[in-house]
Amino acid sequence: MSDTASSPTPQRVLVTGGNRGIGLAIARAFADAGDDVVVTYRSGEPPEGLQGVRCEVTDTASVDAAFDEAEQLLGGPVEVLVANAGITRDGLLMRMSDDDFDAVLQANLAGAFRCARRATKGMIRARKGRLIFISSVSGLTGAPGQANYSASKAGLVGLARSVARELGGRGITANVVAPGFIETDMTAALSQDVRDGYVATIPMRRFAQVEEVAGVVRFLASPAAGYVTGAVVPVDGGLGMGH
Ligand SMILES: NC(=O)c1ccc[n+]([C@@H]2O[C@H](COP(=O)([O-])OP(=O)(O)OC[C@H]3O[C@@H](n4cnc5c(N)ncnc54)[C@H](OP(=O)(O)O)[C@@H]3O)[C@@H](O)[C@H]2O)c1
Repeated sequence: MSDTASSPTPQRVLVTGGNRGIGLAIARAFADAGDDVVVTYRSGEPPEGLQGVRCEVTDTASVDAAFDEAEQLLGGPVEVLVANAGITRDGLLMRMSDDDFDAVLQANLAGAFRCARRATKGMIRARKGRLIFISSVSGLTGAPGQANYSASKAGLVGLARSVARELGGRGITANVVAPGFIETDMTAALSQDVRDGYVATIPMRRFAQVEEVAGVVRFLASPAAGYVTGAVVPVDGGLGMGH
């Protein structure tokens, strides 16, 4: 499927943390294909040309209110959830505070859980739905300095696979996308030396463009992926092979 392929039937899509980075690319890919898209954003303004609702994923009331608002804008229940919002608070284990651990687990894992729980209300009734969780290669391989982040991203695999088993009979799929190094604000901040060091370990010898993650997410939401559930799909240039 090419990036420009349109969806056979427009779907109602919600992307969390869709105001920048990977989330924004995912939201634009769905919108460009003719789907009805709402992004959640935490601060500032929604991105140009996309509908947005404010949402803090660490707060259940905020998540539930954001879904209510999004479903008004979309004209019906969310059919595709992309749980993308996430943070890092890197540090070595010995120096990692409880707060740094909890904050990352709350945003990345519990935040995705809150969104999935709310999204499935409408999906169960409709007897169809797609849940797509944005994890990370770090969740599969582990990464020094990322005990909190890797634990949260590994947790998404257990979350998705439990939901896949629980709700498969209702026509709902739950899959995980595990990106490696992607060209975003975060990786743009790396020094050339550090970047070169990472690139040398990646079989594809480059970082990915955000659109390369978006294409895989769109595939998982498409009819072609109707029988794919509980899968972990790496988009990492081969970095995490075997995990
Ligand atoms: N970049 C990479 O190389 C890479 C690699 C593997 C996995 N990932 C994962 O891919 C996802 C997107 O990454 P990115 O690089 O695009 O990140 P980003 O540019 O830092 O964007 C993160 C998004 O999540 C939102 N967010 C964070 N905490 C939130 C909270 N508590 N409530 C609501 N929204 C919140 C942010 O909102 P604000 O704008 O308000 O901060 C922002 O929209 C993340 O889950 C990340 O872990 C990224």
